[in-house]
Amino acid sequence: MKTAKRLFIEWTVIWSSILCLVCSSTILAKDDGLARTPPMGWNSWNALKTDIDESKIKAIADAMVSSGMRDAGYVYLVLDDGWMAKERDRDGNLLADPGKFPHGMKALGDYIHKKGLKFGIYECRGYLTCQKLPGSFQHEEQDMGTFASWGVDYIKLDGCFAERNGRFSSVELAIYKRSIENTGRPIVLSISDFGNGSWAWGAKEAAHLWRTSYDIEPSIESVYSCADTSGGHAVIHPTFNGLWQFAGPGHWNDPDMLQVGNLPDPKEDKVHFSLWSILAAPLMAGNDLRSMSDAVRNILTAPEVIAVNQDARGCQGYKIYENGGREIYNKPLSDGTTAVLMLNKSKATTDMTVTWDEIGLKGTQNVRDLWERKDLGEFRTSFTAANLSQHGHVFIKVGTPGGRPIPGPVPVPLEKYSVTTSGITYLSDLYYIMKQGNAPHKDQSFNGKALSVRGTTYHKGLGCRDSSRIMYKLNGKADRFQAVAGLDDSYTGRETARFRVLNEDFFGNQVLFDSGPMTRDHPAKKIDIDVKGVEYILLMFDGNEAAGDWADVKVIANTAGKIIENNKSE
Ligand code: GAL
Repeated sequence: MKTAKRLFIEWTVIWSSILCLVCSSTILAKDDGLARTPPMGWNSWNALKTDIDESKIKAIADAMVSSGMRDAGYVYLVLDDGWMAKERDRDGNLLADPGKFPHGMKALGDYIHKKGLKFGIYECRGYLTCQKLPGSFQHEEQDMGTFASWGVDYIKLDGCFAERNGRFSSVELAIYKRSIENTGRPIVLSISDFGNGSWAWGAKEAAHLWRTSYDIEPSIESVYSCADTSGGHAVIHPTFNGLWQFAGPGHWNDPDMLQVGNLPDPKEDKVHFSLWSILAAPLMAGNDLRSMSDAVRNILTAPEVIAVNQDARGCQGYKIYENGGREIYNKPLSDGTTAVLMLNKSKATTDMTVTWDEIGLKGTQNVRDLWERKDLGEFRTSFTAANLSQHGHVFIKVGTPGGRPIPGPVPVPLEKYSVTTSGITYLSDLYYIMKQGNAPHKDQSFNGKALSVRGTTYHKGLGCRDSSRIMYKLNGKADRFQAVAGLDDSYTGRETARFRVLNEDFFGNQVLFDSGPMTRDHPAKKIDIDVKGVEYILLMFDGNEAAGDWADVKVIANTAGKIIENNKSE
């Protein structure tokens, strides 16, 4: 177990002497000028599920204006699943549910626009939506055209059933991108693959935001776990220290929509909003605005908290400290100051201190409380938040506006998470760029011992347990993928496990290798497959309680057809 650590040292998030003013990595996304800051709006799902209709949505539009939400920046009013009729018309056009929306979507869009708001709508790239209404598969061009004719400004594109489409996500999204461009209407595209790695395989080429998590629920545990997808290591190798390097102006990590106003305790609402603010997450309110309390409205419209989220520099905040549920995040801002969130998730009341060294500052600094909107004074080397009880937090801005911009953190370089050299690359020597389930153990079985399959031990490989899905970036550089797959000899149970290798992500559903069900009595499977041109590879281990090994797992580049034998070691 690791002890208390100052993550900025351990995780290569070092302050470089070279001024690093951009936060996201150098891979360039499309730049259509949309969503330069995280989109803000309201979405129907968290508050109303499918119980939406014309009068409710109009009342929400009215409330967005009268409550001050619109003027605070919440401009997109997005209808989630449940708005459409069960069948398309005879020409294949999508129709609004005639019972719920008797005047149709164009009329609703006009109403929304007249309020000074923008109109958003939900669809799905599967053949059905998640609520089993007509999806857009094979209707992409037509549906995007329909949406544009209704005046849609924002599309939330879900992923249910899309694994049946037989298309890589990257290929499928390119179809949507082109179809949207063909309409000539500027439309923000928000996609959901439930955290299956959109940041990794380059969704930013087509989408402005992508979900990094499963659905958020109205509980603080769910809020923390969604935040951990974007700001922690729930879905990526810990070395990355969250997904910050994949976000920036025009392309954002989306840990899902807000549950502010739906949580049992206002203190939790506030923590939730602070986290979304510092993580540069899209701010899509999900409470019923028709019955919002003043307390909730004050949280959702807190100007200085929103300003951090909407900062033009577009750096996603990242953790600089984590120990036993105590977390500190830092988000360098465009005006030369930086925002710092100090959060105590643990049960024990605690003091927390941030030092100026940790956030790239030197000398006496001004500190301002962003919730209280008041200056707390000048502090010489650090700031301490005293007596933080569970979910207690302090959200401050440090520094003087107008000063020299603070350097951002240093991204993990490509060669650390991608195949860049010829010859053998052991996957255990690369950082995975997407994870679901258990993180694999590097060069060890899951129980911490040597990897061992059917009596043979291996120095290199990945030890898994239960369910472990990890994506590596092959970068189109590798020729062959080789491994020995089998249950680890230390596992004595009777569970059945399965090893699969997929090209790109889960949704592409292109299986390069499938072990079928294996018990510990099965001989190890020697895998040796062609991966020429493969950009990303997904290793899927599904084993219930079982421990299984991708022993000696490696890729080989530039072999010119020569197949290199697996290196066994006794
Ligand atoms: C889920 C999605 C939710 C909501 C729902 C509608 O897949 O993650 O945010 O859109 O579908 O059916």
